[in-house]
Amino acid sequence: MKSLDLFKLTGKVAIVTGGAQNLGRQHALALAEAGADVAICDLNVPAGEETCKAVRNLGRRACFGQVDVTQAAQIDAFVQATVKNLGPVAILVNNAAAPSEGCALEELSDDLWRKIIDTNLSSLFYFGKRVAREMIAQGRGGCIINIASISGLVISNLFPRHNVAYCTAKAGVAHLTRGMASEWAQYNIRVNAIAPGYIHTAQTAASAKFPKIVERITASTPLKRYGRMDELKGAILFLASDASSFATGSIVTVDGGLTIW
Ligand SMILES: NC(=O)c1ccc[n+]([C@@H]2O[C@H](COP(=O)([O-])OP(=O)(O)OC[C@H]3O[C@@H](n4cnc5c(N)ncnc54)[C@H](O)[C@@H]3O)[C@@H](O)[C@H]2O)c1
Repeated sequence: MKSLDLFKLTGKVAIVTGGAQNLGRQHALALAEAGADVAICDLNVPAGEETCKAVRNLGRRACFGQVDVTQAAQIDAFVQATVKNLGPVAILVNNAAAPSEGCALEELSDDLWRKIIDTNLSSLFYFGKRVAREMIAQGRGGCIINIASISGLVISNLFPRHNVAYCTAKAGVAHLTRGMASEWAQYNIRVNAIAPGYIHTAQTAASAKFPKIVERITASTPLKRYGRMDELKGAILFLASDASSFATGSIVTVDGGLTIW
């Protein structure tokens, strides 16, 4: 196969969680640009419908479901609707996540800790398990991409804001990725993660209000800037396609070099 053909996703069906806006929307567009039909789920209905419109404008099929990724029954219904409307799922991008609230650990309530871990870590298990069952039943393998973070590799220095619960969840995402990869390789389901550095989105909006945080992040990033929203597209296409056919259990860092130091 010619090199660029390795990245083609023609006729494949992909799910993007949290795909309504920001990075999730970019993942959906990247997959559609490579030829995939895309099912998007999110809490945000108007933005989700907008992303579907953008996918359809690329000539691909799209559907949207309002889903809370921590709710098993909603995930079940969405996965079944995707298979019915678009066909067997070949690609899952586990992207949905919620920012932490900036609380110091000693002030963080047990309930908020549980919510952050449930949304940012356990939901990838809830979703991944259900899609993997579908992939195993279809017998065609598949690709799962978990969106981790550099905050799962190092504790992000966002002082005076704090986000240890988020960092802990993202560290779990990296290890969950290796665990899923180890169990599901026998079904030819490859599971990899992307660990992005800082990119201006809704998630980083609270810390971006502190000029000192922005200065510190920029200064400690070798490329001396935040990432652009479209700068994960290459990694998404690599991991979703045959271009990465021998890669599983990898954590691909796309962070402007932040974790070099
Ligand atoms: N922006 C960054 O700098 C950065 C850095 C590293 C990792 N990431 C990761 O990239 C992914 C996307 O980040 P983003 O910056 O676009 O975030 P964002 O907050 O802008 O978007 C997240 C999306 O997930 C959805 N969502 C949140 N909770 C949900 C739930 N319970 N059920 C369904 N949908 C839900 C939101 O509605 C939103 O559309 C996340 O996994 C995030 O942790 C982002």
